[in-house]
Amino acid sequence: MQLSQRACGVRPSATLKTGQQAAQLRAQGVDVINLSVGQPDYPTPAAIREAAVTAIRANQVNSYTATAGTPALREAIVQRLKESQRVDVTAEQVVVTTGAKMALYALFQTLLDPGDEVLLPAPYWVSYAEQVKLAGGRPVEVAPTATLKVTPEQLSVAVTAATKAIVLNSPQNPSGLVYTAAELQAIGKWAVAHDLIIIADEIYGELVYDGPVPVPSMLTLGDEIAAHTILVNGVSKTYAMTGWRIGYAVGPVNVMTALKNGLSHMTGNAAAVSQAAAVAALTGDQAPVAKMKEGFKQRLDVVYPLLAAVPGFKLTTKPQGAFYLFPDVTAAMAMKGYTTTDDFVAALLNDAHIAVVTGEAFGLPGHIRLSYATDLDTLKTALQRLKSFME
Ligand SMILES: Cc1ncc(COP(=O)(O)O)c(C=O)c1O
Repeated sequence: MQLSQRACGVRPSATLKTGQQAAQLRAQGVDVINLSVGQPDYPTPAAIREAAVTAIRANQVNSYTATAGTPALREAIVQRLKESQRVDVTAEQVVVTTGAKMALYALFQTLLDPGDEVLLPAPYWVSYAEQVKLAGGRPVEVAPTATLKVTPEQLSVAVTAATKAIVLNSPQNPSGLVYTAAELQAIGKWAVAHDLIIIADEIYGELVYDGPVPVPSMLTLGDEIAAHTILVNGVSKTYAMTGWRIGYAVGPVNVMTALKNGLSHMTGNAAAVSQAAAVAALTGDQAPVAKMKEGFKQRLDVVYPLLAAVPGFKLTTKPQGAFYLFPDVTAAMAMKGYTTTDDFVAALLNDAHIAVVTGEAFGLPGHIRLSYATDLDTLKTALQRLKSFME
């Protein structure tokens, strides 16, 4: 059967692929440590799970809900954004989706015409470029600075008459870096001056260990910037709810209406039971979030110096958020005789039995992404293996 050109052009998600390779090796009896995963290793807090069970028992989740989400969840999102990040929006501006991934996919479908360009400052999350292509748009990589944070000067080199939007992700996957309010404001003003849409992916916004808390949301940096911004967020990372698939977009009502219309033909509503669970997450006790955050911080504090001490691994700054480290490994590759990052990553998997993700997938070869969303003992063993491999 002949596939569409669109489908042929799509690369599979590198993070999911590496995870599968690790699982295959494990099934063969190899003791692989998987540091490729992009999800918290904590269980979903008990109160959230209970809320879902209660909703099922009361037969409250058997029907379709409104495409944009239940009124209770849209209101819970409004309140949580207000409390956590001082973002002031109405429920009409909120559309609930099947994970933040679907919010992004559906947004590109809603906003892009064929040939429209979207600026992606490297390193960027694996799905942006493929989603832009699936919408007929053209992803435009913006080369990284030494700090891995993009600047207006660099964006000015990449912008063309066809540029429609820019995707900004802070805290950033894969580097864990967090933009300051001043840095975001400078980029926001630049985007406003070029009349671009800012897609602000703030999915790791609550997971910040060292820096301004709450992390500045693009929606709080002035009316003009807010009017150009569409926020993307979700419950996956903050509440250890990746499998529940609840994300959301927040933006101008006309865009949200178009987004909702598109979604009504794609997924319809996000799973009703997951929406009930998300209401419990957002409106309930936030102590479990603080506890998970403390756990991530502890791990970062242990793992960062260990990783920085591995021969050939370079980390210019300590990450401040999310749960990833993204070292420059060009020196390590040269020491071991590898010319491509993919080959180096394959050797780490096959020889050192550590699964990590290649920087190629994030638009930045010569780097690898390690997730520290796993327990400290496992992390220490992994770092020891890495060190032995390099020595
Ligand atoms: C930067 C970023 N954005 C969006 C997502 C999507 O999250 P979800 O679809 O689980 O809500 C992820 C997940 O890995 C991510 O890392």
